[in-house]
Amino acid sequence: MRTNESLANLLREERRFNPPAELAGTANITAEAYEKARADRLGFWAEQGRRLSWQTEPTQTLDWSNPPFAKWFADGRLNVAYNCVDRHVEAGLGDRVALHFEGEPGDARPVTYAQLKDEVCQAANALTELGITAGDRVAIYLPMIPEAVVAMLACARIGAAHSVVFGGFSADALATRIEDAGAKLVITADGGYRRGKPTALKPAVDEALTRPGTDSVLHQLVVRRTGQETAWQDGRDLWWHEVVGRQPVEHEPEAFEAEHPLFILYTSGTTGKPKGILHTSGGYLTQTSFTHHTVFDLKPESDVYWCTADIGWVTGHSYIVYGPLSNGATQVIYEGTPDTPHQGRFWEIVQKYQVSILYTAPTAIRTFMKWGDDIPAKFDLSSLRILGSVGEPINPEAWVWYQRHIGGGRCPVVDTWWQTETGAIMISPLPGVTTTKPGSAQTPLPGIAATVVDDEAREVPDGAGGYLVLTEPWPSMLRTVWGDDQRFLDTYWSRFPGQYFAGDGAKKDDDGDIWLLGRVDDVMLVSGHNISTAEVESALVSHPKVAEAAVVGATDATTGQAIVTFVILRNNAEDDGDELIGELRDHVARTLGPIAKPKRILTVAELPKTRSGKIMRRLLRDVAEKRELGDVTTLTDSTVMDLIQSTLPSASAED
Ligand code: WT7
Repeated sequence: MRTNESLANLLREERRFNPPAELAGTANITAEAYEKARADRLGFWAEQGRRLSWQTEPTQTLDWSNPPFAKWFADGRLNVAYNCVDRHVEAGLGDRVALHFEGEPGDARPVTYAQLKDEVCQAANALTELGITAGDRVAIYLPMIPEAVVAMLACARIGAAHSVVFGGFSADALATRIEDAGAKLVITADGGYRRGKPTALKPAVDEALTRPGTDSVLHQLVVRRTGQETAWQDGRDLWWHEVVGRQPVEHEPEAFEAEHPLFILYTSGTTGKPKGILHTSGGYLTQTSFTHHTVFDLKPESDVYWCTADIGWVTGHSYIVYGPLSNGATQVIYEGTPDTPHQGRFWEIVQKYQVSILYTAPTAIRTFMKWGDDIPAKFDLSSLRILGSVGEPINPEAWVWYQRHIGGGRCPVVDTWWQTETGAIMISPLPGVTTTKPGSAQTPLPGIAATVVDDEAREVPDGAGGYLVLTEPWPSMLRTVWGDDQRFLDTYWSRFPGQYFAGDGAKKDDDGDIWLLGRVDDVMLVSGHNISTAEVESALVSHPKVAEAAVVGATDATTGQAIVTFVILRNNAEDDGDELIGELRDHVARTLGPIAKPKRILTVAELPKTRSGKIMRRLLRDVAEKRELGDVTTLTDSTVMDLIQSTLPSASAED
């Protein structure tokens, strides 16, 4: 890829942040870990495996005799739920708060490790009573309430694989996932609170279960959250508080093989039906535990951790449930949206619980930027000490805003790159070690082998761009696509034989640090130059008037593709029409070079996003190329597209 010139431009204004001195001395990991892992990668992971409590200690670390089907710690046996709950209670920490639950209406409930153990044991007994046994699949379709965590751990405890389906997904999406996994039970709720209102969930399950292919489901286990009126099918539908509530709080955890399935989590690709990403037990828990401990420098006795993701995404699995709980962390879980009842809700929660580690997404950070600096400034955020970002490339502007306005300039920001498929963080700064560069995920973690290659699978030199690949297996890697080994091979292992292809574009800077450029499908080809959408977006957001930007390549008769951009202005920025548009185009040209000058700039009020906050560029491309819109069912708000289309003719500026 010919991105060197624009990279140099992007780095011109490079800012660097050294780790705070006091952290460098007390951090959970030091720079030596890189050396150690380089000298003996498997020995390093074997050592991390000892973070867990095994019923049978593994003697093997990795079996790679049938690549890419890995077996980690294959002869070890453990119970994942025991590792996340019981062992902390046995260590005398039963009174420690595991979850500070904050409901959207403001109801709050702390759950200690001792209480969590009782609830998980009761739920495990209930699942057993309902005929669920090891190897079965259970679908979980719940709001962000403690029962979601309990349900996942109860499945893990009895060796049933959970398939959590995000509560915002439709009945159809749920039905497809139930059918593919052959789930025997659905755990759901009457509803949850979203944007100040009770929002029903169970009707979507009822509807899903009318679809052909879902008759594997024998029961719905229904948590009463909102108390709203709910249709009921006697015999099939059971209340959680009745069935779980009457169970004993004792349950003997059985140990399973390290490679026993832990969960399936579906990711939607650009085409075809969603892929059921399969994760297993020992390796997954080792890497989520290790990365949560080191990347966030967790001190479980004093930190209050908060990951704002939903448990319906992998971030919620790895960094709300398995990583933090295996480490005995105290954390906040929040049910609702960041602007209910007001735009300071997140900061109010940080202040209330004295949150010290915050893990959120660039899309949220850019939204907070748009709402204005004065909102977080009204709250006491001095408890914060580490800030994390995940989900998309974070543009330097948002990174610096996060560091300054949320972190008060004191907190290291860790930009963590990983995927549903990788199971745990792979590339990230370490807060007590790394001198950070805003916008870069920087370095593969100790024990992780990642690099950037060109079309011919050759590693690119420093200063050049290409495709991100992982060159060695890692403990929390996906084991296959559920029921479809061939798709696993085709999607991830065939583009560059012997290497895992992540689907992301990336480049190395002159120090060899990695900068992510977004999905390779999002790279534009303009007059023979490869330009990434992320770079142009980043350049736009570096302009003081722009809060958010989305960039697409639209077919163009002269240049192959033309750069079309959609921008949201900051709250305090005035839209003076053509003048502003000219200013922004020049700004991009100055930052990245004339080749990257957008052909069209449209100012919009909202951008189309998936429920996990990723911009749906595919739809914007449809708009830019004046086509019928494709599938909009995974949008958070489908009216956004009408809004964008209606602003189209007046807001455009063409050459
Ligand atoms: C894709 C994976 C990882 C949990 C949430 C998303 C993008 C993720 C970063 C980052 C640049 C990132 C990549 C990746 N991504 N984190 N720090 N910098 N890009 O999981 O839905 O499986 O998406 O998200 O494109 O491939 P996911």
